[in-house]
Parts: sequence; structure tokens; C-alpha cells
Amino acid sequence: MDKLMIEGGIALRGHIPISGAKNAALPLLAASLIAPGEHTLVNVPRLRDIRTMQRLLEHMGAESQQDEHFHIDTSRIHTPEAPYELVKTMRASVLVLGPLVARFQHAKVSLPGGCAIGARPINLHLEGLERMGAEIQLQHGYVMAKAKRLQGTTITFDQITVTGTENLMMAASLADGVTVLENAAREPEVIALAEYLNEMGAHIRGAGTPQITIEGVPNLSPGTHTVIPDRIETGTYMIAAAITGGHLTLSPCHPEHLEAVISKLEGTGATICVNDGTLEIQAASAIRSVDVKTWPFPGFPTDMQAQFMSLMALGDGVSLITEQIFENRFMHVLELRRLGADINLDGRTAVVRGVESLSGAPVMATDLRASASLVLAGLAADGLTEIRRIYHLDRGYETIEQKLTAVGARIWRERDQD
Ligand code: EPZ
Repeated sequence: MDKLMIEGGIALRGHIPISGAKNAALPLLAASLIAPGEHTLVNVPRLRDIRTMQRLLEHMGAESQQDEHFHIDTSRIHTPEAPYELVKTMRASVLVLGPLVARFQHAKVSLPGGCAIGARPINLHLEGLERMGAEIQLQHGYVMAKAKRLQGTTITFDQITVTGTENLMMAASLADGVTVLENAAREPEVIALAEYLNEMGAHIRGAGTPQITIEGVPNLSPGTHTVIPDRIETGTYMIAAAITGGHLTLSPCHPEHLEAVISKLEGTGATICVNDGTLEIQAASAIRSVDVKTWPFPGFPTDMQAQFMSLMALGDGVSLITEQIFENRFMHVLELRRLGADINLDGRTAVVRGVESLSGAPVMATDLRASASLVLAGLAADGLTEIRRIYHLDRGYETIEQKLTAVGARIWRERDQD
């Protein structure tokens, strides 16, 4: 396994290119199962999770290659199954369930099991498919789903779910009749998926609002689609500027995907401006402590909570950070404390008392965004920080050390002996 070494205390300056969004590319890849033929996806990031999804689709019979673009041919799917060995490494594998039932009338998908940040069940995905007429059985850790033809209906989510919305939107694309998703997720990645499905011939209206209407069609045709820039990668590098006293420009960027993050960071004193797809951020001389509560889009994203906590660790006062989406998304707190942060947990709220400075130390990554928060803290800490188990980081950040080195960071990868 590798570890990441960071010599902190350097103000980052320059431009960081933003990659395609992991959480947009994954549902787009799953959607390719719905329409036989060759799909072309542009701006797909080179990440561990993308390779996992690629392996999963190839296990089913798809043929794919990632050269400048990502080409995938789903004409010859012979095994509509997602095995535990692959699903256990990436929960987003559940996104193949809706497409498989829609196109093949049956699917066998491993239950994802637990995750570092919470139980993350998929009951809302399964209840939605049952409401559309699918027969769902759980056997030996697998979801066995089958339906002659899914029937359009109204599905009201009792909790906002991003991949639940995406799964059922894909399933409903080929259903008989109209499906209405109420209390649907509004994330930009949901909008991007609806746009691609419509390019493939689906009839979807309302993506990005709490009510999405899908009029089923007999079949879809393969298409070409460009993946939107990664808003969480962008937010992460915005904090890299703010936490090191630096000045960065980031592009490409859709500012409307980041309004909650931009306003919170302006609240800490950073100066941010956006013009024609480039975001510029100048760090404040002193970091103001502000409170934040995570919430589904357009609220402050849970995927930015750990990164924001690193910044608040150096705030000028006390910051209350409340995680309202996942029940266990504070694994980074114990590691940030090793770097000198003063953080106490009170249920779903972390009380972060800003300190003068952080000091480098060996720490352990536990999940994707926790590892990003440790990189950010390491960039600001005095001395050397070693981050172990950085395979978590490689799931969601393309060439992170190259991107940070290019703006002045002293960061490199080493083999981890133990
Ligand atoms: C997506 O996960 C993202 N992943 C996550 O990003 C992100 O943190 C999350 O949405 C919230 O924004 C992808 O898009 C691939 P949810 P998802 O269903 O869809 C509960 C990252 O860092 N719930 O919106 O799995 C669930 O337990 C990852 O890139 C149920 O109870 O999240 C959670 O508490 C991490 N039953 C809440 O809803 C269900 O059937 C929101 O989960 C589904 C969800």
C-alpha cells in the first residue's frame, strides 16, 4: 500500500484543472446498460471507482476502453449480475439494478453491506422498484429482482436519496406508463443523468426539482455525453487555497453547483469570484469560524463536511459542524486531533475550537472525504504529515499530488512498509 507525505506550511498559488465528476460518471456508466450499442462518455475521470464500475460492466459482458474518451458497448450483456466481490468495494454498484431490471426484466445484485460513514441501506431503491411491480427477494446477501415490465406509478421518497433517485429514474425510463418521483434528489449529477437519458430517447422532465416525471418508452439508443466538472473536487481545492493562505484559480467550474460552499467560504473571510467557468479564490489573512449543517443539494454537501472541518480547525473561534445526512461521518475527527485540532463530538455535531496551528504527524485515512480532509490539514500543518491507506483518496481524486505539486505543495507518494 502507498502513503502520502506532505511537508506543510506553503501557500498554494496557481491554477488547478478540475476533472470530470465521479458521482456523475458512475450513474452515466450504469445507464449505458439500458441501451444496447456503443456509448461514448467524454471527460470521465481516471479513478479507482471508475475502474471498479468498468470491471463490473465487463463482468456482465460489456466491452469498454478508456482512451481520450470512455467507450462502452453494452450490446452483448450475458450476465445481469453484480457480484459481492465488486459491490463490497463500491456501493455505487447498486446503480446497475434499475437499468438491468428495465432492460432484462431481472437482476441479481449483491447487497452493499456496511460502510465507514454509515449503514447506508438501499431500502428506498428496493421499495421503489416494488412499487413499479418488481418482485424483490433477498437471498444469501443478494437482491434478486424481476419484473415482466415495470409499471409507471408515483413514488414518494421518505428520505432524499441521490442514487435512489438515479436508480429509479433509469428503471422508469423503459416502464409502461408514467412514473413520478416525489421528494427526489436535486443534485447536479441527477440532472446530468436525466440529460443523458433524454439524449438516449427517454422522456424525463423536472430533474433538479423535487418532482421528476418519467414517461416510459419502449427502448433507448446509445449516445454521447460529456461529464460535468467535479463540484466536490472543486470545493476541496478551494479549501486548499483557504487553509494555506494561498490564491488559486480552478476550472472548469459550474458555480451554480457550489453556491452553498462558496457562501460558507466567503463567510470564513475568503474572497471568491467566478467568471466564464473559472473560479478564483484568495485566502483570508485570518480564518473566521462559522457554523455549518450538511443538507441535500442545494444545501451544504455532506461530501464537503470533512474538508470544511479541517479549515475550521484553524478558525478564530468556535465552529459547530452538524452532519445531518450520514450517522457516522466523523471518522476524520480522531485523525485531525492527532494533528493538533481541538474537536469534540456531541452526537451529530462536532464542536471545533480553532487553534493557532496544526503540527504534522502520521495519520490514517478511513474513507474518501476523510482522506481529503487529512491532505488539507497536512498542507497547513507545520512539518511532515504521513497519510496511510490512501487508496481511499484514489477513489475520488484524480492525480491529486500532481495537481497540488503544480501549485507549490510539497507532496509525494511512498511505499508503505507496514
Ligand atoms: C451519494 O451516495 C453519493 N455517492 C455520496 O458520495 C454522497 O455522500 C451521498 O449521495 C449524499 O449526497 C454517489 O453519488 C455515487 P443517499 P448515496 O442515498 O446515494 C439514507 C462520495 O464521497 N438512505 O443520498 O448512497 C442513507 O443511509 C460519496 O463521493 C436510506 O436510508 O447517498 C443516507 O443516510 C460518499 N435508504 C441518506 O439516505 C436508502 O435506500 C442519503 O443517502 C438510500 C439512502
